[in-house]
Amino acid sequence: MTRVITVASGKGGVGKTTLVANLAAALALYGKSVVALDANLTTSNLGLHLGIHLYPKTLHDVLEGRAAIREATYQHKTGFRVIPADISLRKIRNVKSNDFVDVFYKLMEGTDFLLIDSAAGLGREARASIEAADEMITITNPELPAVTDAMKLGLLAEKFETHNLGVVVNRIKKESHEVPIEHIEEMLGVPVIGRIPEDREVRKSIALKEPVVYHNPKSFAAQHMRSVAATLIGEEYAPRKPMSLRLFGWLVR
Ligand SMILES: Nc1ncnc2c1ncn2[C@@H]1O[C@H](COP(=O)(O)OP(=O)(O)O)[C@@H](O)[C@H]1O
Ligand SMILES: [Mg+2]
Repeated sequence: MTRVITVASGKGGVGKTTLVANLAAALALYGKSVVALDANLTTSNLGLHLGIHLYPKTLHDVLEGRAAIREATYQHKTGFRVIPADISLRKIRNVKSNDFVDVFYKLMEGTDFLLIDSAAGLGREARASIEAADEMITITNPELPAVTDAMKLGLLAEKFETHNLGVVVNRIKKESHEVPIEHIEEMLGVPVIGRIPEDREVRKSIALKEPVVYHNPKSFAAQHMRSVAATLIGEEYAPRKPMSLRLFGWLVR
C-alpha cells in the first residue's frame, strides 16, 4: 500500500517544498520507494529545488495523451522519483475510468510513499491535494500569522477525511517572539512531529539544488528533517544536540 501524504501550509514560503524534497530523500535513504509529486500549480518549484526545473514532460502531457507517465517521472540521484504536475489533482481522482488512473496506480505499485507538495492556503489546488491524500502534514513557521493560517487546514482535513498526522515547525530561531511549541500544538490540535531550526545549510543546499539531508546530512536542519522521516516509518532517530548543550547541558538541567 502506498501512503499518500500531502504537505500543506496556511502561508506560502514556510518550507513545504524543502520538506517534501528532504522527506523524499530521507525516506529513500531508509530504503523506501518514494515518489514526490509537485501539485503546487501556480508556484511549482519542486523541480527547482532538485535541479530538474525544465521539465520536458509533465503530468498534464500524460493526461492529454502526449506522454507516457514514465516520461513525466524523473529519477533523482538520491533515490526517489519526481513527477511534476500542472493539473488539478481532483480531476485525476475523479476521472476513474481514464486510462491514466490505471497507469497512475500501476506506478504506485511497490511505491511506499507518494509525497505531495501542495499549494499554500485553502484555495482549489490546496484543497484538491488534501482531498487526494490519505494523510496530511502541516508545516508552519513559529510566527503567529503562519500558525493562525494553518489552523484552518485541520478543518479541511476533517472534511475530506484525511488523517492529520501532525505539524512540522520550520525555521526555529529560538527568538522570544516565536510561538512556543506547546501553543502551536494547542492551536492546531495535533502533535508537533518536527522542530527544524533555521539553518543556512538549507539555503546553501537549495542553491546547489540538492536536499540538505543529502548535501550536508550532519547539519542540524538535515538531522531534524531525517527525524520527521523516521517518525513516519516508526524508526528511532534522535538528532544530536548542539555542541554547547552537549558540553554544558548539565549546567541547565
Ligand atoms: N530550515 C530552514 N532554514 C533556513 N532557511 C530555510 C529553511 N527552510 C526553508 N528555508 C528558506 O525558505 C525558502 C522557502 O522555502 P520553500 O520550501 O520554497 O517554501 P514553500 O514551498 O512553503 O513556499 C527556501 O528557499 C529557503 O531559502
Ligand atoms: Mg513550494
